[in-house]
Amino acid sequence: IKCIGILTSGGDAPGMNAAIRAVTRTAIYNGFEVKGIMRGYKGLITNEIIPFKTQNVSNIIQQGGTILKTARCMEFMTPEGRKLAYENMTAQGIDALVVIGGDGSLSGARIFASEYNFPIVGMPGTIDNDLFGTDTTIGYDTALNTIMEAVDKIRDTASSHERLFFIEVMGREAGFLALNGAIASGAEAAIIPEIATEVDQLSELIGNGFRKSKNSSIVLVAESELTGGATGLAERVKNEFPQYDVRVTILGHIQRGGSPSASDRILASRMGEASINALLEGQRNVMIGIQNDELVYIPFSKAIKNQKPINRDLLNTIKILSI
Ligand code: F6P
Repeated sequence: IKCIGILTSGGDAPGMNAAIRAVTRTAIYNGFEVKGIMRGYKGLITNEIIPFKTQNVSNIIQQGGTILKTARCMEFMTPEGRKLAYENMTAQGIDALVVIGGDGSLSGARIFASEYNFPIVGMPGTIDNDLFGTDTTIGYDTALNTIMEAVDKIRDTASSHERLFFIEVMGREAGFLALNGAIASGAEAAIIPEIATEVDQLSELIGNGFRKSKNSSIVLVAESELTGGATGLAERVKNEFPQYDVRVTILGHIQRGGSPSASDRILASRMGEASINALLEGQRNVMIGIQNDELVYIPFSKAIKNQKPINRDLLNTIKILSI
């Protein structure tokens, strides 16, 4: 390997820039050339590829978003698109790739790598934390902190007006943000796609709180067809709570932005270094993961496809702590 290409793909996540910095500098430290690919896989197809020096990644560790830009590229899902990408990439002299992204991006990497027998190492960059084989993903901790701060603010209004708030958080089809966001913000309940919502139980829980003179309630709802989202759930249960003024807040893309937390910067930096070490060791088609503070290599086939289990005990924790 002489030249390593790097790209960010899918939804942006805080810490992606710290990852780009770590990959670039570790690669250059080890004598590789580095090329930055703009707009994810799209930049491979449109040939937007620029040489990266150590200075290209100066002063970015603290920035949210991604300096390489990102996209969800439909063309890369076709064999013709991938062929064009491969041709441009090899013409540019790139002979290995580091892909930072979530489930969709690593699924793309997996197909591309096997189709062209090309070395690719992935890094888990997504606020959703839904990749198997890693305790956390880059961006998840920052998003959790953003959720916590937002819910703290909403709590002021919930309590002053004695309202019941359903707050929708992101996560695609996974409930990690809702579950841990609920614990961090002291919410009454978390509604997640992994576990069917018993409306009766939820009504009872909130009703009990009300009887015990709690004057407000906060429920975190993971976005998903399975939960119905905050709006859907509020519709379903609001008649059960005539005592409450019900409100819905959808946090939205505020969860994806902002300066990365210390944990995310450290995770991204360690994983970035590990991605180059992986290539040096001859690893390919693996995602860097972290398990009990140890960096590990997870085959793409295992990392993707929503196989990461949720810790169901946490629902009980929320229940106990909200009595
Ligand atoms: O994967 C990150 C994520 O923010 C999900 O939580 C969410 O479902 C999705 O991306 C939103 O995507 P977009 O920004 O394209 O609307």
